Amino acid sequence: MTSYEKLDFWSLKAQKEGYPARSVYKLMEIDGKFGLFGKVPPKILDLGAAPGSWSLYILRRFAPAPGGELRLAAADLQGLSRRFDKGVFDRKDFFFIQGDLESGPVREALSGRGPYTVLLSDAAPGTTGNRIVDTGKSLALAEQVLEYADACLAPGGNMAIKVFQGAGSEDLLERIRERFTAARSFKPKACRSDSFETYFLGLGKK
Ligand SMILES: C[S@@+](CC[C@H](N)C(=O)[O-])C[C@H]1O[C@@H](n2cnc3c(N)ncnc32)[C@H](O)[C@@H]1O
Repeated sequence: MTSYEKLDFWSLKAQKEGYPARSVYKLMEIDGKFGLFGKVPPKILDLGAAPGSWSLYILRRFAPAPGGELRLAAADLQGLSRRFDKGVFDRKDFFFIQGDLESGPVREALSGRGPYTVLLSDAAPGTTGNRIVDTGKSLALAEQVLEYADACLAPGGNMAIKVFQGAGSEDLLERIRERFTAARSFKPKACRSDSFETYFLGLGKK
């Protein structure tokens, strides 16, 4: 199967199952393999959330928290797609802010709603085709995400960050290892085989 046929397979499956992007299968696999969300209902931060598959998966997987507490906060430069959510994004336990995760107002809005038990980032820079440039931009984004982990991920919390592998990514994994009981690199099956993206997981924040 070529990567393009594979892209069609995952994208069509996503549409059939009511998700705007194929990326949902990456989160499902990470969730199934690592038990990322833990045993008690989590409080989650989803960075780089648009068009919204991961957020939709989380909101469908977990019922609203009793007392209407926040279940999920999310941010992206782009808005969320409302094509498949059937009103789920209107849930009171969901907060979304459109903006740059590096900006002060976005940071304040999200940190102020923490601490979170799970931090997810599928944020990816626009690519240029130059692997060195693209990896550098991806690592700069991942650094920002690590700052969110330091600021508003609760002790014991778990994290998954998308990273383009290349010069500097092993250092990032090492820095995750210093902060978490376990650190892993994992490439889900739904990633295109020719892509150099992977996910770095931090399990059990110290
Ligand atoms: C692969 S998509 C995320 C897909 C999403 N997880 C889903 O399931 O629908 C990557 C996203 O990262 C976002 N992004 C990239 N840089 C960002 C930044 N600095 N701040 C916020 N979002 C960013 C892009 O706008 C894009 O929507």
